[in-house]
Amino acid sequence: MLETRNLDKRFGAVHVTRDVSIKLERGERRVILGPNGAGKTTLFNQLVGELTPDKGSVHLAGVDVTDLPVAKRTRQGLSRSYQKNTLFDGLTVAENLGLAAAIHTSNATRIWSDSLARPEVQEIVQDVANQVQVLPYLQARVSEISYGVRRQLEVGVALATRPKVLLMDEPTSGVGPEMAKGFHRLLNDLPRDLTVLIIEHDMDLAFDVADTITVLNYGEVVFDGQPEAARGSKLLKEIYLGSWEDA
Ligand SMILES: Nc1ncnc2c1ncn2[C@@H]1O[C@H](COP(=O)(O)OP(=O)(O)O)[C@@H](O)[C@H]1O
Ligand SMILES: [Mg+2]
Repeated sequence: MLETRNLDKRFGAVHVTRDVSIKLERGERRVILGPNGAGKTTLFNQLVGELTPDKGSVHLAGVDVTDLPVAKRTRQGLSRSYQKNTLFDGLTVAENLGLAAAIHTSNATRIWSDSLARPEVQEIVQDVANQVQVLPYLQARVSEISYGVRRQLEVGVALATRPKVLLMDEPTSGVGPEMAKGFHRLLNDLPRDLTVLIIEHDMDLAFDVADTITVLNYGEVVFDGQPEAARGSKLLKEIYLGSWEDA
């Protein structure tokens, strides 16, 4: 469903993505682990089209999308929730979801004020709000909701485009343990045919939701396989300097 072939990227002298080849089957949940600066976010940026790789290619459902801009990749089913906040603070939760849904369900390049009232848009808003558990906050402005609810809404905004592949960059960063647990449940409840790729530093979350794990270190894939095998790997223990046992 999502594949990279020999993806390579340098920023000047820094080699941030080294010959990365990964392949996700339909419905697969994969977690990308790796220390800070390993190149995880840079890899995501190349997947979604915000960065152009120096070499290699990105394939979505069998189609080479390496040269497609972000918006076209979104239309083809690749959606991302951001590590940094990208919500419209002055709009309500429902409006944020509605905008994402409206862009997806129309071919228009502009959204009109009545777009959000369309029944197909409203259906997506309700459905997604239920999935990410923000139904009680639909009429609240984003500026009024808690940090944790914002993080859930960000996933909702990504889901509102009805993706085939959902990418999440550290969805639980900055939320407390209770909220993180809620996130595990939320992720495990997503439709099984949705392919999910998550960057995560929380080992518990990684092992709880992952079918497969990829570990990046200095831009290179150093592990690719089952979570059980990852736990036993000496190399990974070294990379995480013992934090593995504490996780
Ligand atoms: N736009 C950029 N220009 C130059 N260097 C960058 C840029 N973006 C990221 N880097 C560098 O690339 C490396 C990987 O960063 P990043 O992908 O954000 O890592 P991670 O998400 O794994 O923490 C870091 O050394 C970072 O400083
Ligand atoms: Mg990052």
